[in-house]
Amino acid sequence: MCGIIGVIGNGPAAPLLVDGLKRLEYRGYDSAGIATIANGKIARRRSEGKIARLEAVLENEPLEGNVGIGHTRWATHGAPTTVNAHPHATDRVAIVHNGIIENFQRLRDELTAAGCRFETDTDTEVVAHLITRNLEDGMPPREATAAALERLEGAFALGILFTGEDGLIIGARRGSPLAIGYGDGEMFLGSDALALAPLTRRIAYLEEGDLVALTRDGAVVHDAAGRVAMREIHLTEQSGAAVGKGNYGHFMLKEIYEQPTVIGDTLSSFYHPVSGDVRLPELPFDLGRLPKITIAACGTAYYAGLIARYWLEKIARVPVDIDIASEFRYRDAPMPEGGLALFISQSGETADTLAALRFCRKQGQHIASLLNVAESTMARESDIVLRTLAGPEIGVCSTKAFTTQLVALACFTLACARARDAISHDEEARLSAARAEVPSRAAEVLNHDERLQELAREIARAETVIYIGRGTGFAIALEGALKLKEISYIHAEGFAAGELKHGPIALVDEGVPVVVIAPSDSLFEKTASNMEEVIARGAHVVFLSDAAGVAALGDRAATVIELPTVDPFVAPILYAIPVQLLAYHVAVIRGTDIDQPRNLAKSVTVE
Ligand code: F6R
Repeated sequence: MCGIIGVIGNGPAAPLLVDGLKRLEYRGYDSAGIATIANGKIARRRSEGKIARLEAVLENEPLEGNVGIGHTRWATHGAPTTVNAHPHATDRVAIVHNGIIENFQRLRDELTAAGCRFETDTDTEVVAHLITRNLEDGMPPREATAAALERLEGAFALGILFTGEDGLIIGARRGSPLAIGYGDGEMFLGSDALALAPLTRRIAYLEEGDLVALTRDGAVVHDAAGRVAMREIHLTEQSGAAVGKGNYGHFMLKEIYEQPTVIGDTLSSFYHPVSGDVRLPELPFDLGRLPKITIAACGTAYYAGLIARYWLEKIARVPVDIDIASEFRYRDAPMPEGGLALFISQSGETADTLAALRFCRKQGQHIASLLNVAESTMARESDIVLRTLAGPEIGVCSTKAFTTQLVALACFTLACARARDAISHDEEARLSAARAEVPSRAAEVLNHDERLQELAREIARAETVIYIGRGTGFAIALEGALKLKEISYIHAEGFAAGELKHGPIALVDEGVPVVVIAPSDSLFEKTASNMEEVIARGAHVVFLSDAAGVAALGDRAATVIELPTVDPFVAPILYAIPVQLLAYHVAVIRGTDIDQPRNLAKSVTVE
């Protein structure tokens, strides 16, 4: 959730650290800082707010030194102030940390009683003091660190500098990701390959419990048992080029507009070019004999899973269990032998999803992940990886990752349906044709941008916005509400349309916007009745439907957005796009920080 970077080079470290932090800013952006060793001593510069503010500090007070560490923070313990910004330091060490030290209060009490003085409210500072005490007892840096880590409970990726050592960085990981980069007479440390890509393409990923000592000549890794270990060096796929916004005002808008293309790319990657059949990676299990599929994911990725459940149960006739990853493993649900656990994640690093994955591994499930970032922890821990080809998603709000997840899940559903003999040839041909037209229909949906921009003026004045739908439209209602609250900060809720009368309809009052997701499918009539119920109570209805739906009910709604007519199978992929655009334009009107909304981070690597 925070981003960390380390550099041991031969030129000034500070500019490289700041550049790396900019590439890690998606992980958190409420404060940032760097530390170097200059003339044998630790020197730090820190600032609350975004990296641009740290740059301003560095302009006034530059930092010398060829070795350094940097951090961009998403606050867990302690407010996002300059004092709480990393690196944290004593006179012997400076440290950057991604993760949470769960037993920090106990350690802090113990260290305070032993005379340590704490400057911050963070959990991380205890690690700096523990290592310092070990150094004072005469231990060398690596041993002092290893002994300190034995006292820690929780998750961490750490980068540590030592006073008097201008050729050493120690890194360690447990729970949070950490990579090392091999340069020419220089070495690097980073939360991910994206941060390191401009510095080197030669990357090795640390494994759980690893501790690494980096010098200019290379890296020595010790594993969790303290044995020297080799970690394979890969050539990263990540490009060193910074990803730009092009002519778009925000990454989010650019990413919304990329959808027809990346949906097409993802779709093609799942098709056999000659036979036209769905092509999956080689599977170490038989799709036709799975007793059950368990899906776990967070946020928007979870909503993609909700839609997949409708598809997999209805079309492939396979039992599906789905839960929010942060809840799933605490249910201790019984899992059948030989079942498949499927994890959906853009980043492949989300801590709750990863924890659910590890839980399912222990339950003897086959592990599959649907990921956008191929070089991620979940990819390394899965039996098979299904890829979305969305390209880098920089806006915190997930857009193209979601629709490409849906495309991949639609293909997976058809592969399951065929393997289980659950579908006739004609039906499969019909659904395949529906799937194939999604990229061009998605491009048509974008033509409604101007209309949605107009509508946004009204929605931007609302205090509460309600989204309703049935079936896969229910998941789109949840997704629409999440998009809106996430970037516009307007209170929004998504409900199953049929559930309204069991409580939520009390929120409906004169003029409250209710966005109705209503493709003309088998549930249309029922959704229509629920729409009438809110109209009767004065709601301002925004009706998202197709030509048949609009012909039937368009005159009942205050605002109508007519989407292309498609097979109901693929409708949720298209209906995701107007709710993204609506949220975007409302946020523009309200002047929020769209690509980096308050309190959020792109990759949530703490539980
Ligand atoms: C919402 C959003 C989040 C993510 C969630 C999971 O717009 O972006 O809800 O979907 O944090 O992240 P990943 O997919 O990286 O596991």
